[in-house]
Amino acid sequence: MNTTAYFDALYQQDDPFEYRTRWYEARKRALTLASLPRDHYLRGWELGCSNGVLTAALAPRCAQLLATDLSEQAVSAARLALAAHAHVRVERAEHPRQWPDGTFDLIVFSELGYYLDPPTMQAMAARLAASLDAQGVLIACHWRPAFAEARCTAEFVHAQLDALLPRAFSWGDADMLLQGWSRDTRSVAEHEGLR
Ligand SMILES: C[S@@+](CC[C@H](N)C(=O)[O-])C[C@H]1O[C@@H](n2cnc3c(N)ncnc32)[C@H](O)[C@@H]1O
Repeated sequence: MNTTAYFDALYQQDDPFEYRTRWYEARKRALTLASLPRDHYLRGWELGCSNGVLTAALAPRCAQLLATDLSEQAVSAARLALAAHAHVRVERAEHPRQWPDGTFDLIVFSELGYYLDPPTMQAMAARLAASLDAQGVLIACHWRPAFAEARCTAEFVHAQLDALLPRAFSWGDADMLLQGWSRDTRSVAEHEGLR
């Protein structure tokens, strides 16, 4: 089964990853949001937005937010979830083959990279780095244990980004790896004038 068919079958269920009900997912979302170095972003992008649960949590932090997913069903569910947010646009796209124009000051690459084979993940990292603006932050969060559909590991995904961009922060446990990269190497405290 190819990736699109796999996700189309999965999205016959309303919330296949249990984003709305699982404490694991709620906690991970809270960690992701807390890790963002800035309070507010001008142009954000979440790749692989699924049914829009993380997108809805990111929406108040962004003046404009693009959310993309390869699954038509996921895009429909995310559009419904984000209907009240006029500044959020949800588009169907398969990355890295399809790519949005311009640059972003926030890119959220969460639980997607391991679905790509290693050369495609490498190409993805290069395109992500090129789409990040000079002050922007790219966040990646990935499940660490092996699973049947994974074509590479969380460590491999994050290493491709590490090779291209300065690391801003890192947090991990046995389940997940949450890291961020930015060309703006000022800390949060430096940015706030605290030091
Ligand atoms: C596990 S969900 C992640 C949802 C959300 N980003 C989060 O972390 O809560 C992965 C999503 O990525 C989408 N996806 C997988 N490969 C993709 C690709 N190459 N391009 C765009 N979307 C993709 C799937 O359809 C699925 O909805």
